[in-house]
Amino acid sequence: MFLKKLKIGNVELDNNIILAPMAGVTDRPFRIIAKEYGVGLVVTEMISSKAIFYDDKKTKKMLNMKDEKRPISVQIFGNDLDAIKVAVEYINNFADIIDINMGCPAPKIVKNGDGSALLKDLTLAEKIIKTAVEYSNVPITVKFRKGWDNKSIVATEFAEMAEKAGAKMLTIHGRAREEYYSRKCGFRYYKRC
Ligand SMILES: Cc1cc2nc3c(=O)[nH]c(=O)nc-3n(C[C@H](O)[C@H](O)[C@H](O)COP(=O)(O)O)c2cc1C
Repeated sequence: MFLKKLKIGNVELDNNIILAPMAGVTDRPFRIIAKEYGVGLVVTEMISSKAIFYDDKKTKKMLNMKDEKRPISVQIFGNDLDAIKVAVEYINNFADIIDINMGCPAPKIVKNGDGSALLKDLTLAEKIIKTAVEYSNVPITVKFRKGWDNKSIVATEFAEMAEKAGAKMLTIHGRAREEYYSRKCGFRYYKRC
């Protein structure tokens, strides 16, 4: 395996192995174990920016990372610019990096215009990234899919937009929203971006 140091904005990672964010999986105990095994960066489960906006105690509890090894990236989702601003201002007090989820395919997420629904509205996606960048003092990164479906692949366009909007790292999940987790992952999209 080719291990190398990686820098995301001003955050230096010991190596380029990054724990993928997984809702219901990458909680505090999982992150601590992954760090013990030496990963360069761990990412939390995705956190609702609206829940932070409304001061939801249960969500805030998910952000407990006391005494965990650093760096840690907190992944958020949402499409309301006020909620993104409030969430970013709250989370950047303790996170090293904030990642924005624009790839979650779950119906309960996309029906609200969040996650991979943003692949259908690059103008709004850009506003969200720019808002996060403006109000954060830690690097903003973005995770997205190659498109909504195989007839609307936006990976390259999306990557260019996100970079210009100020994202310091992009993670692409090489499936379309409509492919969920099925079929083979489209690795050629990683190359093209
Ligand atoms: C149980 C589960 C939960 C996931 N939750 C998230 C999440 O909260 N945020 C996210 O960006 N990706 C999430 N993902 C996607 C993974 O981070 C990863 O991008 C995806 O599984 C592609 O990798 P694979 O081809 O090895 O499965 C999740 C995947 C699984 C299987």
